[in-house]
Amino acid sequence: MSWQAYSFLTKNHPKATRPTGDVRWSAISALHFYQNRQLELYASKEARRLSLRQLVFFGRHMNEERLIKSANYVRTELPIRIAHRIRDLQALPYVIVTQPEIAKVYELYWSAFDKFRRFPEINNLSDNRKFCDLLETLLDEHAPVIPNLSLGLSLCSPHVPPDSLDSFMRRMLISRISRRVLAEHHLALSKSLGRHSLNSEDPRVGIIFTGLDVKHSVVKCARLLRSRSHGIEDDNGEVIPNKGWPEVVVEGQLDTTFAYIREHLEYILFELLKNAMRATGLKHRHNTTLPPIHATIVAGKDDVSIRITDQGGGLYSTGIQSPSDLFSFSHVRNATRMDDSRIGALRSASSRGVKATVAEQVGGWQVMEEHGGSNAKDPERRAGIAPHQRMGLGLPMSNIFATYFGGSLQLVSLDGWGTDAYLQLPKLGTNLEGIEF
Ligand code: COI
Repeated sequence: MSWQAYSFLTKNHPKATRPTGDVRWSAISALHFYQNRQLELYASKEARRLSLRQLVFFGRHMNEERLIKSANYVRTELPIRIAHRIRDLQALPYVIVTQPEIAKVYELYWSAFDKFRRFPEINNLSDNRKFCDLLETLLDEHAPVIPNLSLGLSLCSPHVPPDSLDSFMRRMLISRISRRVLAEHHLALSKSLGRHSLNSEDPRVGIIFTGLDVKHSVVKCARLLRSRSHGIEDDNGEVIPNKGWPEVVVEGQLDTTFAYIREHLEYILFELLKNAMRATGLKHRHNTTLPPIHATIVAGKDDVSIRITDQGGGLYSTGIQSPSDLFSFSHVRNATRMDDSRIGALRSASSRGVKATVAEQVGGWQVMEEHGGSNAKDPERRAGIAPHQRMGLGLPMSNIFATYFGGSLQLVSLDGWGTDAYLQLPKLGTNLEGIEF
């Protein structure tokens, strides 16, 4: 079905919105439709996709020459990747791209595209420092992109067939992860130049941990969740009294290590454990004890697998047809997308911008805090994050993180009993980034 036909059939959904309000954004966005020559030039080029192994090999023996090469790769690659996504935004029906939240994303992308395109060739460390300043500023500025996209698309969901909406969001989000990986990896390499020669035991190359200890990450995420002071909340935000958090039993091949981006693994683990703990707490709210959650780690020939098993009653009560609908951004597949509480949480996250969104985007503030990520130094950011806010981004984002380098995430519901979440991540690092054009 075409988007027009779908829109005609569904536009009377009570929460479908028309492009109202922020005329300024709409006008600016419309202007860009006529400034497309440069964009076409970049969008006609293919992104040069990388594998984890390439990122590690290139970054392992850093010196000034290699760093400058990395800087120029990032400088020329990012505008290509952004141009593809601006083209995607331009292909949306006008009713969607003029939605204020989507128009804001469009503006951010256009402005970043223009800055990268105009940035002169990098020839020395001083040029690189200026380039790193630009990367840091843009990484911060783009923090509200996910709640903005998600809110804008949720409100437009009645105008977009679910397949189109999900594939659009997938392209946008996976490309965004890829751009942030390139930017953050280059920043980390720039910071580490000189450190490697002093410390050859450094477990990281850029943002990649070469011997990432899976058990350690599971235990850390479980501990961070269990140390949350506010306890498990029901759907009305009421804390279940005196229940605490369930234990997490870690079993299987406990010495498993592999090369991966720790923030990506821990984002997913944190989210899966959080959901498992919440479901367990709610299902057993009238029992005296909570059954434990089991996390099983297995190192296969090509992959590392982690299964998270809970006795939280399964997914039957979530009103979805299939567990994978929980990864969908469409209200047709997942009606909770239009819940007032979700829309409200997204609204406040997108208007609070950077401060409110880092948690959902990078993996929960506590995880980042312990990593010493950039936001750890910013107490305002931490204070701005309400951990109980349920924006509904955690599972779709976990799915996108899992598939970025060719892994997978599957949920299996034993209705009435519990849920098994299977996470599989490639361990050889040879898969190319799963970005689409
Ligand atoms: C994004 O976060 O959306 C980006 O494109 C990051 C990039 C500007 C460094």
